This record gives sequence, C-alpha cells and structure tokens, in this order.
Amino acid sequence: MVVSCNTASMTQAAATVAAAVVVSPRAPQTEPVIVTHGLVKRYRSTVALAGLDLTVGRGEVFGFLGPNGAGKTTAVKLLVGLTSPTSGSGRLLGAPLGDRDARLRLGYLPELFRYQPWLTGREVLHLHCELARLERGSWRVEIETALETVGLAGRGDDRVATYSKGMQQRLGLGVALLGQPELVLLDEPTSALDPEGRQDVRRIIAGLRGRGVTVFLNSHLLGEVERVCDRVAIVDRGRVVASQPVAELVAARSVRIQVRGLGPAEMAPLADFGRMVRDGEWLTFTDVDPDGVPDIVAAIVAAGGRVAAVLPGRESLEDRFFELLAEGRA
Ligand SMILES: Nc1ncnc2c1ncn2[C@@H]1O[C@H](COP(=O)(O)OP(=O)(O)OP(=O)(O)O)[C@@H](O)[C@H]1O
Ligand SMILES: [Mg+2]
Repeated sequence: MVVSCNTASMTQAAATVAAAVVVSPRAPQTEPVIVTHGLVKRYRSTVALAGLDLTVGRGEVFGFLGPNGAGKTTAVKLLVGLTSPTSGSGRLLGAPLGDRDARLRLGYLPELFRYQPWLTGREVLHLHCELARLERGSWRVEIETALETVGLAGRGDDRVATYSKGMQQRLGLGVALLGQPELVLLDEPTSALDPEGRQDVRRIIAGLRGRGVTVFLNSHLLGEVERVCDRVAIVDRGRVVASQPVAELVAARSVRIQVRGLGPAEMAPLADFGRMVRDGEWLTFTDVDPDGVPDIVAAIVAAGGRVAAVLPGRESLEDRFFELLAEGRA
C-alpha cells in the first residue's frame, strides 16, 4: 500500500508493508475492484457503519458523499484494512479486505495526515517508495513524476515544516500516486486546497481515469463530486441512501416549454403531465419523466398550439443530495 499518513498509522502501514512478501495474482478483470456486503462498524455505542453494501467497478471514479459523521472515513479505513469490521465482509482488488498483498497495489490519501516535519518532500516520497517496495531503479522517476503531477516540482528539497497546509495535502496526494496503483482512495483530497489546487486534483483524477485506474473519492464537496465522478453513493448515518450514476442523479427532472397560440383554458389540461406553472408563454413542468416530454409537446400541438422552445431543467447534485437525505431520514 502506498500510504500517506500520520506517524501512528504510518508505523502500522510500514509494518503491514514489511510483512507482505508474496504479490497476489491480479484481480480478474470482471471482478469489481471493491465489493462489500453488510459492513458494520461499531465503536462502543456509536454505529459508524450500519451495513454497507457497495460495488465499485474497474476504472470507475466513484464518489462517496455524505455529511459529517456519516461514516465515510470509517468505510475507507475498513477498505484499506486499517480497522476491521464488527460484522460483514468485503473484497478489494480480488482479495478479502485487509489482505496485505492487495494493499501494495493501492494508493491512499488519509483524511488526517502529518508528515515528519524534518524531512523534505522528496525524502517523504523516497520513504514511501521504500515502504511500498517499489523497485529501487524506479524511485527517481516515480518521485520526480509525483512532485511534478501535484505541482511541487520546485519545492521538493524544502522541509515539510515549511510547507503550507495545501502543499502538505499535495504531497499526500503525490504519495498516494506512487507506484502506479490500480486503485486510489482519497479521503477529502481537496479540503486544504485553493481553487487552483482543486482544479489540479480534478486534472489528476481525470488522468487516473484515462489510465483505467479506479478512484474512490470521499467528499462532502458536492460540486467537486458532480464534476469528477462517474457514480456516487450518498451515505448518511452509516447507510447508503442512494447509489447512482451522477448523470442519473442530476438528470433533467423539469422542463420549460414556450407555447404560442394557446389560451390559459386550453393550457389547463396540460397540468396532467406534472406540476405545471404558467408564466406568460412559458410553461414549467416539474417532476416530469424525461421520456414524457415528447408527449407534452404532442399534446400542445394537438390542442392547436405551437412550441417555440423546449428547455430541460437540471437539478443540482446539491438539491438532490438534500432530497435524498430527507427521504432517508423520513
Ligand atoms: N475511532 C473512533 N472511535 C469512536 N468513534 C469513532 C471513531 N471513528 C469514527 N467514529 C464515529 O463514527 C462515526 C462516523 O465517523 P467518520 O469519521 O467515519 O465520519 P465521516 O463521514 O468521515 O465524517 P467527516 O465528513 O466529518 O469526515 C462518527 O459518529 C464518529 O464519531
Ligand atoms: Mg471523514
């Protein structure tokens, strides 16, 4: 596992990596990269995860979205084997959760991390090349590529103590990218980054997608997730309340139609197609099935009207997020 982490978990990671000797066979291409069945994690009386069922396919950029305390970090820790489930099971990269060999093939940016302040950025990356058991001959290229990719090329020889928070997060991302992992798990990778840094992370994720790398992205930044993810699961109180392709989640659920040649009385029956609001020539239908729009247009024409424009409305992920949370809590 290429892991970027605080000192305590790094010791754990080092021990884990050091214990791994045999590299397991790669997961068959057909098997999901991540699959979990009813994962439960309790911390005394707190139920952090209440039965997590997840499937993430190869090459997907998967967003794991939820409010504070929803269980996102707990889920990632279970996936990478930093903690074990109270019950339930799962597989990652073709091996049971916690498998030490599988960890060597993933990159992980933890949520809370601190590097040794006395090391330079380049030395941190060097250390992680060693922990990840990368071939020594590849280290130089790996390190320079990582520094370049995360925008730290000019600062590699400066000590971590002199890095800003955002630069430390960039370094963490660089660590997670070492060794060309098949799966990269990022727990809030942009929390310390400015808009430019966020754009860089989107670019990095797009690059990973282009190389067929699977990305598991924890976030509560809805805009970020909407922009980069193929599919999202929304988690609340330890449960997944929705899991869908982003495009479906924010699919057009309303439509605005500009109608000419019909009076209010002739328009009234169109309300059968959905909630309808009239504003001059414009009719807005909400809660409509996108497949039903041609029927609305046909009905307008059949009533003697003319359709001047049809504009699909688009609900933001934020609107959908709050709706789904409310439905899940009802
Ligand atoms: N080590 C722990 N000991 C006790 N409780 C914990 C521990 N880790 C997490 N929890 C609890 O489990 C629940 C889920 O926490 P988790 O960190 O997974 O949430 P999260 O979705 O990552 O939140 P955030 O968006 O704030 O990062 C919370 O109620 C938290 O207090
Ligand atoms: Mg978290």
